[in-house]
Amino acid sequence: EANAMWGGRFASSPAALMEAINASIDFDKRLADQDIRGSLAHSDMLAAQGIIGAADRDAIHAGLAEVRKDIEAGTFTFSTALEDIHMNVEQRLKEIAGEPAGRLHTARSRNDQVAVDVRLWVREAHDRAIEQITGLMRALVALAEHNTDTVMPGFTHLQSAQPVTFGHHLLAYVEMLGRDRSRFRDSRRRLNESPLGAAALAGTSFAIDRHATAKALGFDGPTRNSLDSVSDRDFILEYLSAASICAMHLSRFAEEIVLWMTAQFGFVRLSDRWTTGSSIMPQKKNPDAAELVRGKTGRVYGALFSLLTVMKGLPLTYSKDMQEDKEQLFDAADTLELVLAATTGMVEDLEAVPERMSAAAGAGFSTATDLADWLVRSLNMPFRDAHHVTGRLVAEAERRGVGLEDLPIDAFQTVEPGITSDIYAVLGVQNSVRSRKSFGGTAPDQVATQIAWWKDHL
Ligand code: ARG
Repeated sequence: EANAMWGGRFASSPAALMEAINASIDFDKRLADQDIRGSLAHSDMLAAQGIIGAADRDAIHAGLAEVRKDIEAGTFTFSTALEDIHMNVEQRLKEIAGEPAGRLHTARSRNDQVAVDVRLWVREAHDRAIEQITGLMRALVALAEHNTDTVMPGFTHLQSAQPVTFGHHLLAYVEMLGRDRSRFRDSRRRLNESPLGAAALAGTSFAIDRHATAKALGFDGPTRNSLDSVSDRDFILEYLSAASICAMHLSRFAEEIVLWMTAQFGFVRLSDRWTTGSSIMPQKKNPDAAELVRGKTGRVYGALFSLLTVMKGLPLTYSKDMQEDKEQLFDAADTLELVLAATTGMVEDLEAVPERMSAAAGAGFSTATDLADWLVRSLNMPFRDAHHVTGRLVAEAERRGVGLEDLPIDAFQTVEPGITSDIYAVLGVQNSVRSRKSFGGTAPDQVATQIAWWKDHL
């Protein structure tokens, strides 16, 4: 038989494959709560405007409450023939409430209905992301606080560059996450306008009050242009963009955990809760959680690219292509939430191995810059000359197979007669780190300043 919603014009039901390609209920059932809230606000407004009667509104409200109960109890039967969540809810409402249910869709289309549902969902996803990011920042700040003077190598090109502290390194991620959080806050502000009442695309001839429904649903106000209202998915793209950048940051951190846990680095220990063993090699403790945080980044980027591609060729206004936004959005949000939670868990269970870190920090002539800086300060040498002299001293130390701090004074003086034994004071990694006192530098008191700032801004 023909469709229950629009059967008037149709003589036969759709092909089975048509149903398969068309139906979205398998995934958009996740919008049930938002859909019901939208309908409650819409029916309230219709009644307040005298477009439907108070008794109809009451019947709709009571019916929707029951639909909600069914769905929450898991007793609701979702039907593919009814395509999507909007028609599934409405059809069930009709079974419960009868004729008044048919008045709910007055001055509304599924086009503005789905737009408002998804906006509500994405707004909540923003709130969850902001909260989880804050939790991860807290965990990182706490770990940094324990490690304000734990010296480790700082790297460029993955080659030891200059000693830094582990606390300083962790706080770099707090900065990234702080930007992620502000991106989510920013796009949340922009998305918080209600498309409800744009109807199919052109608005409606009924005397609706879009300001009222916007307010009831927690929006700052209604969207201004009805065509844009039903065809805009920027708010999903912005969520996915912010999520992609955030996932990229988590992936970089995960990669560092993977490196740090190798026998070669041995910089950190991670509890058994976040690692797995090998089925063949008894000695193994693999950082699978970190690897999956890194690996799952691809899904989030994929969602962003998928939706950008869906949207790029669409003429105004709504086209069914836009139904393809949801699976990507849900998967990306689930993924982001999972990797944020897993990363927070790992940070809480992560322990530095200071001996390994500081031994590595001293390797690779990492205080060569300090030596050059000493030549500039004490001998008033131009930095370029100091760089050259230091290079020769590094070559000499390398030839002898020792560190710079182990070169005897006459070896220094052979290369540069002006050098005195004061030089040794700048060569240890502790000295090097403590001397980096410029604002934002790695000296422990600067790291403490960063921690104090973040504690005020979490
Ligand atoms: N399931 C649809 C979607 O997700 C709802 C809107 C359908 N509107 C329409 N005119 N067919 O986009």
